Amino acid sequence: MSLYAIGDLHLHFQSVLKAQNQLKDPVWKNHEERFRKNCLDLLKEDDTLVLVGDHSWGKNLSECEKDLEYIRDLPGRKILTRGNHDMFWDAGKTRKLNELYPDLLFLQDSYAVYKNYALIATKGFTFEGPYYLDRKGNIIGYDENNKKQADKLVERELKRLEKSFELAKADGYDHFIVFLHYPPTNVMEENSLFTRMAESYGASKVIYAHCHGERRFHDSLDGIHNGIYYQLVSGDFLKWEPYKVLD
Ligand SMILES: [Fe+2]
Ligand SMILES: [Fe+2]
Repeated sequence: MSLYAIGDLHLHFQSVLKAQNQLKDPVWKNHEERFRKNCLDLLKEDDTLVLVGDHSWGKNLSECEKDLEYIRDLPGRKILTRGNHDMFWDAGKTRKLNELYPDLLFLQDSYAVYKNYALIATKGFTFEGPYYLDRKGNIIGYDENNKKQADKLVERELKRLEKSFELAKADGYDHFIVFLHYPPTNVMEENSLFTRMAESYGASKVIYAHCHGERRFHDSLDGIHNGIYYQLVSGDFLKWEPYKVLD
């Protein structure tokens, strides 16, 4: 029995693929088939696979049905968390999705259990600028309006994260693994409100996705930082092989 994670499948069985990197980079060629084969080789029925957002390019649920059926038909228990591209998933209507797909768990404002761990998930948010740089590349400012909007998104996501932690704590859990779609910090940061919240609840790992292409694989934390293990699990980074989070 093991816990695995991967993110950013960006499936498009019914929708139009527009992402240039997904069209050009060979790591994406037939990635659906390679990922399915890796899952069939690796996952057993008592394993859990957490899919850390950006499941589909579909603009609404009817454009995502085949993508969700593909995920449903993978081995093991599947838990899905929200990514920035998951237009089919309105956070406030998560219950409806869970009713429509009883074989999948859409995790939002709640927690899931793996052994004695509570699995806590939210989309997160990472503000990457735009920064104003001087001629030497030093940051001398950033866009104030974008910053205000980013602060609102961060606050909303932190509330969701806190609510999930508190629900799990109230049910007696004191071992936590956090799943964020966005990286926990931006390229300039060593800490963020997300890393601090994970620390304050004593989470042992923070798993995240969203970073595509080699240039972005090291945008955020990697390995142990202030007692928490950080791991990027975007599918192209993992070459479509699910990452084992826990035995
Ligand atoms: Fe993505
Ligand atoms: Fe993303």
